[in-house]
Parts: sequence; structure tokens; C-alpha cells
Amino acid sequence: MPEETSQLIDTTRSRHHPPRLLCVWQLLAALVLFALLAKMGNEGKLESIIPMEGVSHHSNEKRNKKETKQHVKATKKSDKKIEPIHLACEKGTYSERTLQLAYELPFIALFADTLGQTKFEASSVVIHDDSAYAVCDSSWSLSKFRTDLQPFSPDNVQIVSTKVHKKHKDESGYEALFYDAGFFYVVRESIRQRDKSFHAEIEQLLVQDQQYSVVKKQMTEFEFEGDSKGFEGAIAIHDHSDNEALVILALCEANHCSEELKDDVGNGKLVAMKSNGTVWTTLRIIDVPPSAAFHDYSAISILGDRVAITSQEESQVWIGRLKGLVEGRLWDIDAIEFDVDEGTVYDFPKDHECQTIYCNIEGIHWMNEYTLLAVSDKMKGRGKQDFRCFDKDQTAHVFVLP
Ligand SMILES: *[C@@H]1O[C@H](CO)[C@@H](O)[C@H](O)[C@H]1NC(C)=O
Repeated sequence: MPEETSQLIDTTRSRHHPPRLLCVWQLLAALVLFALLAKMGNEGKLESIIPMEGVSHHSNEKRNKKETKQHVKATKKSDKKIEPIHLACEKGTYSERTLQLAYELPFIALFADTLGQTKFEASSVVIHDDSAYAVCDSSWSLSKFRTDLQPFSPDNVQIVSTKVHKKHKDESGYEALFYDAGFFYVVRESIRQRDKSFHAEIEQLLVQDQQYSVVKKQMTEFEFEGDSKGFEGAIAIHDHSDNEALVILALCEANHCSEELKDDVGNGKLVAMKSNGTVWTTLRIIDVPPSAAFHDYSAISILGDRVAITSQEESQVWIGRLKGLVEGRLWDIDAIEFDVDEGTVYDFPKDHECQTIYCNIEGIHWMNEYTLLAVSDKMKGRGKQDFRCFDKDQTAHVFVLP
């Protein structure tokens, strides 16, 4: 019975050895525990030691400060005591200042054939002829889908470029999309030019069936400081005094259109541009009212003279009115300014603890005067964004205004 013998020997051995082994393990465990406790003493919590995706950033100091600021502003109480975040939703005004979700669907579930795409970093959306069109900065194709967001509908398709893009160059940088007079226009937010300056580029696209071709490409005269903060949204209007010429109102992502001054909230800017045949020359800079006190401006849509501007970071939409509409759809470009007396900020819906869940809204378009279509980018992984952001990422949503 050699097996039994060896087992017997093993058992005997293990009976003799444990004390010494245990000692080593105990020592190691004690050391690790000591190190952990020492670090926790410094930084306060386990999450600061072990990197985990989805650690709540809401509990950190920065967020608390911001929430508190909003809180103090909202309540105008003199006591600066920090209230639990969930109380902000329990003031009895939630239904007056929060959008209601009508319906939503992740992009991946819209398309029976995604053409092999597994991510949808949606950056802009428009509605044209009752269909929605979205661009992703991660893709060269346009997503066309029904506004009722029916899963896997044959009407939901990818519109691909006639040009073959190199596999490794799958980042289109398409940040804004609008439609005008038979053409779609995409804005690449800020591109380094040959002379090392940074300008946005606007491509005019002709869509035929499930393909598009670039008809024309022009850069903007407007210059940016770098390639990370350019235009994030754009709308098309027409000049009443110049043969109804197309004028683009492009929304800067950063306050003052500046990387350096991006945190100076309440200084959103629209850049009005007209093409001179080769370049989108700057006509005017239009201030977004300070009631849109955002850290970033991610999308813009206009219905008549009513303007919606979203903020990704604040998870809010500002609704205001633009003056200068002279007749029908024609504008007096020199008279364009926002009505400073109008301007309301609404929150995207919160979770049951009043925490932000719509963290990546990058596109917005009016469906009608009561509802808005929005699209969300992919959330940032590796703990850069709260885990609560995940459920709504890479998704199309329809919201109802209060
Ligand atoms: C268009 O504007 C740009 C920038 O101001 C200028 O350099 C260019 O010469 C203009 N082109 C025409 C055709 O006027």
C-alpha cells in the first residue's frame, strides 16, 4: 500500500511542520496589516491604497466642495454645514428642476450589424427627416437610428465613409454634427496644422444610402490653444442680409474657449463663422449667459429661438433663448445675443441617493418643445469616473422637460 504510506508520511510531516509555517505567515500577515493601517491612518480609507474601478468620487473633498457650493447657492442659508448629498433631492423641487427619462437604449443594442464596432463614443446627435444621426469620436461611420430607439431595427444602420481609413486610425475626432440644406457637417474639434497652430476642421458630407463622402473640408480661422479643448457642438443658421448664407454657431468646450481659463465657470462662448470659400472665418463671439455656470459645454441644439446647452461634468442642461431671429429661419447675425433674463438649468435624472448617473452626455437635439434626444460617450475606466456612470454610457436617451 505505497499510496497510503506516503499519505501517512505526509500527514505526519504536516503535523510536525505547521507551527513553524504558521509563524512565518502570521509574521507576514501582521506586517501587511501594519502597513495597511499605517497608510489608512494617513489617507483615511482602503480605496486610497487598493486601486479599484468605480470608487466613488462623490465622497472626495473636491466633489463635496462643489456639491456644497451648489447647495449653499441653492439654499442661500448662512450656515455652511455640509448636508448629505441625498438631501439636495429632497427639498421638494426635484420635479421642477430635473429632466425625466422617457426611454433609452445602449448604442450596441440599436444595430443588428455594428460592422464590428464594439464601442460607441458618441459625441453629437441630430435629427433629420425623423431619423437620428450620431457621430462618435472613436469611429468614422455615422450611426443612423429611429428616434423611438427600437432595438435592432432594420432602420438602424451604420453609414460608412467611401474613403478607406487605415485600421489604426480609428479615431475620427468627430465632436459635433449638424445638418443643413442636403448636407451633414462634422466638426473635428481642434487639429494641429502645419504651422503648429490649432484650428477646428469642418467637413461637409454627402450621405447617399449607407455611405457618405466628404464633399469639402475647411478649417476654421478661429484658433485654439491646443488639441484637447476645441468645439464640442454646432448649429446651422442663415444670414438674412447675405443671400441666406450658412452661418455656423460653434460651441467651445471650455470656458473662454481656453484651456488655461477653462475653470472660470459661466463663460461659455459661441463662435459665429461663415465660409469665404476656403476658410470658416470668424464673424463674432457670442457669450453664453453666466446662468450656464458650467465647467464644460458639451452640446448645443436650437428649436426656433430656444437653445439647449449641455454640460457633461455638471450633468445638466441649460435652456435659454437666442435673440436676433428676424423671420422664419433667418437671423440678423449682428443682433444675435442670448436673452439674459431667460435661462434655466435642469439636472439630468439622479439615482435614489441623489448621485449623478448621467456623466457623459455629449450630444443633444430637440425632438419637440417638450423632449430632448441625448447621447452619451463611453465612461472613463480605471476609476477615473464613478462606477455609477456605467449604466448610462454609450447610450441614446430621450428626456422630458419638467
Ligand atoms: C479667407 O479667409 C482667410 C482667413 O482670413 C484668408 O487667409 C483667405 O485669403 C480668405 N480667402 C478668400 C478666398 O477670401
